[in-house]
Amino acid sequence: MPQIELRNITLEYDSADNPVIALQDVSFSVEPSEFLCVVGQSGCGKTTMLNIAAGFLEPTKGAILIGGKAVTGKGLDRGVVFQDFAQLFPWRTAQRNVEFGLEMKGLPKEEREEIALRFLRLVNLEKFARSYPHELSGGMQQRVAIARALAYNPAVLLMDEPFAALDALTREEMQRFLVDVWRETKKTVIYVTHTRFLISDFGFWIRRIKHMNEIFSASILKFSFRESESKIENPK
Ligand SMILES: Nc1ncnc2c1ncn2[C@@H]1O[C@H](COP(=O)(O)OP(=O)(O)OP(=O)(O)O)[C@@H](O)[C@H]1O
Ligand SMILES: [Mg+2]
Repeated sequence: MPQIELRNITLEYDSADNPVIALQDVSFSVEPSEFLCVVGQSGCGKTTMLNIAAGFLEPTKGAILIGGKAVTGKGLDRGVVFQDFAQLFPWRTAQRNVEFGLEMKGLPKEEREEIALRFLRLVNLEKFARSYPHELSGGMQQRVAIARALAYNPAVLLMDEPFAALDALTREEMQRFLVDVWRETKKTVIYVTHTRFLISDFGFWIRRIKHMNEIFSASILKFSFRESESKIENPK
């Protein structure tokens, strides 16, 4: 059974003079532990799709299913990492940021601390547990955001160009790092981006890369990697 499924999603932004159909009848599913990379040009609806999957935006039509069950609204079953460095709470230390979802889940203090430190260790930031976001670099802040999203153990991790604002070298490093984290945590990931170079950077580790056009309608561009085969399937 798919871990997450978007079924016949349509989203119309109804600004009075200029209604925009951002997504029309979009359907796809992601299997447990699959890393799906969605590639599409600017404005094609990636952020809209991710916001719907996260439950921040209600679709005009269609359904989201997690583990086969329809969900509405946001929930701790989905962790989200955005592009924006400003997604952390500036008044909380790195550790207290990571503890946020655990607080929402009602975990006691000691358990929260233990889990938060474990995930900070996973993203190589244990030494910065007591630092505030403004004391961390952009890449470090994104790593805290990833630790925060993973710590409360969501079924699916949703990522919207999380490294787009980083310099090219740090971005490459972070992408490799994310693949390591994915291999270690076996999370189901939907990662959206408009940058093609990802395909070679993520290399063989990504299970599936879908072009937005393929999600929208007929397959136009399809890049698909499988760990076992370590080659590109059906490139066009
Ligand atoms: N709040 C909004 N109100 C009206 N239209 C919107 C709104 N947000 C997005 N749109 C429109 O919906 C379409 C999809 O936007 P979206 O932000 O999902 O694209 P994207 O693929 O994430 O682009 P980018 O790669 O630039 O981030 C665009 O045509 C955009 O103009
Ligand atoms: Mg976007």
